[in-house]
Amino acid sequence: MFRAELDRLRADAELALSAAIDAAALEAARIEFLGAKSGRLKAIQKSLGGLAPADKPAGGKQFNDAKNAITACFEAAQARVAAGSSGPAVSAIDVTLPADPFRLGHLHPITKTIRRVQEIMGRLGFESVDGPEVEDQWHNFEALAIPAEHPARDPLDNFYLAVARGSDPLLLRSQTSTVQIRVMENREPPLRIVSLGRVYRPDTADATHYPMFHQVEGLLVEPGTTMAHLKSVLRMFASSFLGGDVKVRFRPSFFPFTEPSVEVDMEWGGRWVEMGGAGMVDPAVLEAVGYDPDTVTGFAFGLGVERIAARRHGVDDIRDFYRNDVRFLRQF
Ligand code: DAH
Repeated sequence: MFRAELDRLRADAELALSAAIDAAALEAARIEFLGAKSGRLKAIQKSLGGLAPADKPAGGKQFNDAKNAITACFEAAQARVAAGSSGPAVSAIDVTLPADPFRLGHLHPITKTIRRVQEIMGRLGFESVDGPEVEDQWHNFEALAIPAEHPARDPLDNFYLAVARGSDPLLLRSQTSTVQIRVMENREPPLRIVSLGRVYRPDTADATHYPMFHQVEGLLVEPGTTMAHLKSVLRMFASSFLGGDVKVRFRPSFFPFTEPSVEVDMEWGGRWVEMGGAGMVDPAVLEAVGYDPDTVTGFAFGLGVERIAARRHGVDDIRDFYRNDVRFLRQF
């Protein structure tokens, strides 16, 4: 009680004294707080007598500390007013100087990469769409022709959740190919979409792996689509994204949801670098979404966002993207 009142008094006094802009205001403040007859300090000093005997020594010391502080504050204010300056608010800040510039941050390099890919693909007519990160097994596997016994569905290679839909546990999506299915289930061809977002796999983090990373998924479904269109689109994308005329190379590969399937390499600094996979959409996938594989064709591709960002900026350890060290992030 005593202590709280004393603290409030001290705060009030310091505020009033440091705000006093001239001798009259200072005198008024002095009378209010330090006045010998009816000042607030005097009043509180009287209440010292009402403290329990055991509390008196501590109370007395607190009172003296407050009194000394207020007196020192009064003397400082007196000197200030005498020197002709009207108060610290005015003397300490020169309002005519230009203000400190705001330190603006910027988007994370992965976000910037995503926006850039969306922008480049947008110019090629690809609409950017999103899909959920918590997926069911139909969209992550089944509809993509990855059957139950396929090793890609192994619990050691996926983050299955304790939540199920029907009898199938949901999972954090392991690829953005899920979005191909979601779009085709809801729309009719022709289609040109890209989807960029997070995917999750229980990998140990090292220079090229991280348990969460990002993919670019592309899907085009139009009459008469061929591998030549796929390659042209990837080459235009690569040239725009990496700069210059970037060559693209296909190597035969296998993905359950494309036929034929290829690995996509891009030539960069005189070396071929693997950027992802691609292929013609498998008829089984077209059937799974209710399209007629005899009349509909399309291509799909999937690239690693960290991988293309690392290439472009010469980053050799993708963990740097997620350490949140501003000295690294500031460079982009
Ligand atoms: N989903 C594949 C992966 O995560 C990448 C991929 C390969 C996507 C071929 C595609 C594709 O669309 O056609 O490894």
